[in-house]
Amino acid sequence: MCGIVAYIGPREAYPVILKGLKRLEYRGYDSSGVALLNGDLNVYKKKGKVAELEEMLVGKDVHSHIGIGHTRWATHGEPNDRNAHPHISGSGKLAMIHNGIIENYAQLKQDLLRKGYTFKSDTDTEVLLNFIEDIKENNNCPLEEAVRIALKRIVGAYVIVLIDQEHPDTLITARKGSPLVIGIGKNEHFLASDASPIIEYTKEVVYVNDYELAIIKADELILKNLGNERQTPFITKLDMELAAIEKGGYEHFMLKEIFEQPQTIQDCLRGRLDANGGTITMSGVSKYAEQIMNANRIVMVACGTSWHAGLVAEYIFEELCRINVEVEYASEFRYRNPVINQGDVIIAISQSGETADTLVAIENAKSKGAIIMGVVNVVGSSIARISDTGAYTHAGPEIGVASTKAFTAQLAVLTMIALKIGYEKGTISHDRYLQLVRELDAIPEKVATVLLQADNIRKLAEKYKDATNCLYLGRGYNFPVALEGALKLKEISYIHAEGYPAAEMKHGPIALVDENLPVVFIATKDAYHEKVVSNMQEIKARKGQVIAIINEGDEFTPTLADDVIVVPEADEIVAPMLNCIPLQLLAYYIGVAKNFDVDKPRNLAKSVTVE
Ligand code: AGP
Ligand code: GLU
Repeated sequence: MCGIVAYIGPREAYPVILKGLKRLEYRGYDSSGVALLNGDLNVYKKKGKVAELEEMLVGKDVHSHIGIGHTRWATHGEPNDRNAHPHISGSGKLAMIHNGIIENYAQLKQDLLRKGYTFKSDTDTEVLLNFIEDIKENNNCPLEEAVRIALKRIVGAYVIVLIDQEHPDTLITARKGSPLVIGIGKNEHFLASDASPIIEYTKEVVYVNDYELAIIKADELILKNLGNERQTPFITKLDMELAAIEKGGYEHFMLKEIFEQPQTIQDCLRGRLDANGGTITMSGVSKYAEQIMNANRIVMVACGTSWHAGLVAEYIFEELCRINVEVEYASEFRYRNPVINQGDVIIAISQSGETADTLVAIENAKSKGAIIMGVVNVVGSSIARISDTGAYTHAGPEIGVASTKAFTAQLAVLTMIALKIGYEKGTISHDRYLQLVRELDAIPEKVATVLLQADNIRKLAEKYKDATNCLYLGRGYNFPVALEGALKLKEISYIHAEGYPAAEMKHGPIALVDENLPVVFIATKDAYHEKVVSNMQEIKARKGQVIAIINEGDEFTPTLADDVIVVPEADEIVAPMLNCIPLQLLAYYIGVAKNFDVDKPRNLAKSVTVE
């Protein structure tokens, strides 16, 4: 989504902002711009990449010690130069950047037009800016008060940062629903959508909460709520090293993150799963164990890959905890006026913790009395902070737009939660519990074994890269894995792919099968294996090309497949963490073979913070 960067202090602001915008490019955007104050208010912005903005600014006046920068992902007004941020107010004295959506902007714009305001852009952002200025001028009040009044009257999500030509020593910022981090330096402050533009300057940060507003000078940070009451900034220390953000020697972030999975799953289990002692320690779960155990139902709410993790969790929770589980697309759940009963448990799954649909879905559910448990990767993110409890996935920053290590970390956390609840509830035996604890503990090493297949998978990618359609088939715990494999291929290679329950083929999709259609089967040993093999024979009978994910020692399935990828055996409950790895690699290598930007695929954003 959009990225914001701002600076105030002794350094030249422009280089700090420009580098910060580049660090945020992974979030996805269509245009960018900066506003710099040095007596003059200089605003430069254009459609396209940050590098194009940088080129445009060569030779321009970019001297300043205070500035704001923005990468836009358009919601109101097409991507072009005039709709890019920062926007300038009617008086020409204020400049503002914004991440989010002002939902009641149309009415506000009508009122302002009637007052004689004109607009240079089609954005909701410019409307908010002029709404603020109109309040400031009519009430003859300080800018911060005008901002507070305006924000109490708008509907929507925002992070805004403003500079005022008449107060060149002050930044004003506020947030609701979109992410904002403030870096605390020595006589300097940094603002950004996440910590990556800040971490090389300072590791002391403040995560601004919803309905908070900050008035920032080089040597002063004042935090208030919209009721004008001072709030104490809660300073936390970043544990993310800049190196963690770089590619670490891999060609792409996506490949780095796929290969990090033995480590990231280990990090996820660390301090929680003790295979020797046979214990699972999760304070966030223990605090609500009673409510979860006695819940009439658990609703998994998520989007995209995280939704697939919720589907796997449905099978796991129902098997281990004997609790009814529903899995909902957040975007549907939030608008459907769902029946939410007191005591329902909502598990919100999100890598970024900023996905607008998921955030609003759980806000709605919370207001109806549901207990919200967040399974989130980004510490201090909005979904994490609105949740009653939860567990971080600790997968580290996931830069590649296609989610890989976050997915397996989500599965690890969800499996631990289900194991802990099932054991404490008595719906699984002590032996079964200990067996699964050991199985989970062995996953990082087994993932490392699967990664040894990378070169074999790269060769398969060369063979299948020109396919125009592809099917992914699995059953039981592997049905969501088939969906995830198909999503990865779509996202990274732009090849149309569909995931299906293998048994469902005969109800229509099998009409698609011919000698040009690759069909990926997840055919590892589990309760469904024999039936999956039968489905494979149905495909072969119609000349489909079969790629099979199989277990070591399986000698029959390869006789049916054109190609096989071997993964270690594992209990069906933890096998999805292994079986998804070859599908991640297959998508990655096909995308690379097609020379696509696998870290920033077209049309996609890493975090969809607008609906
Ligand atoms: C997955 O590869 C995609 N990047 C996308 O589907 C993503 O999973 C979805 O937007 C949800 O994001 P979140 O986990 O950050 O909420
Ligand atoms: N709604 C604003 C616009 O369309 C901001 C979008 C964003 O978050 O980048 O300009």
